[in-house]
Amino acid sequence: MSSSAPRPLVAGNWKMNGQFALLAEAAKLRQAIQAQPPACDVLICPPATLLAALAAASAGYALAVGGQDCHAKAAGAHTGDIAAEMLADAGATFVITGHSERRADHAETDAVVCAKAQAAHRAGLVAIVCVGETIGQRKAGDTLAVVAAQVAGSVPDGALAANTVLAYEPVWAIGSGLTPTAADVATVHSALRAQLVARFGVAGGAMRLLYGGSVKPSNARELLAVPHVNGALVGGASLNADDFLGIIAAYQP
Ligand code: 13P
Repeated sequence: MSSSAPRPLVAGNWKMNGQFALLAEAAKLRQAIQAQPPACDVLICPPATLLAALAAASAGYALAVGGQDCHAKAAGAHTGDIAAEMLADAGATFVITGHSERRADHAETDAVVCAKAQAAHRAGLVAIVCVGETIGQRKAGDTLAVVAAQVAGSVPDGALAANTVLAYEPVWAIGSGLTPTAADVATVHSALRAQLVARFGVAGGAMRLLYGGSVKPSNARELLAVPHVNGALVGGASLNADDFLGIIAAYQP
């Protein structure tokens, strides 16, 4: 990490896991962060049912809270959906948009993801925009073209380093225990950086680029040392405070 690199972000995505009892893991995390301030920003994106409670309990700690999705509109007749403004009102400062599980489960297109990221910006949230190729696309040699098209269509015009984070999550690496090699991650992240700089100039150079997909304490140091990797988006290993702290520790000198 060069001295001009953005401050890293280690983000946990709890997905559809956890009831109130899981907040004990976040409490453990807060205690550890307070005892030893991390060399990165730390974020948990819990299920919406836990968001307000987690945000209230985390006030005053270096632990940010985020949503996992938002609707593009600010309010209205959209049963079951949550507006970015509602997430902000509940204490969120981030929201994940366009996770591959939402793209697959809810047929979210790049245009939908872009509208959600715009909603995040409207509500004053940082959007974590997710992109990544399937195993078929990787085998076909299409990885760079696929993620470039996703970035072009999913990251809104006017995005700033202060309100946008890009997460590269190869679909085949999510929850599988498989990861790309550090060299493969470097290839994708340097292409993403070049694309962001070409489109957004200085802001594109300062936007944080996260890697996600089977990040664990045992591989975090290697993956997070890759150039233009400015943090991690962590699923399974974020559900356990010790594992998540093991990933955060990759940034300790
Ligand atoms: P895993 O860390 O469980 O592979 O999940 C990654 C992910 O999808 C985070 O958004």
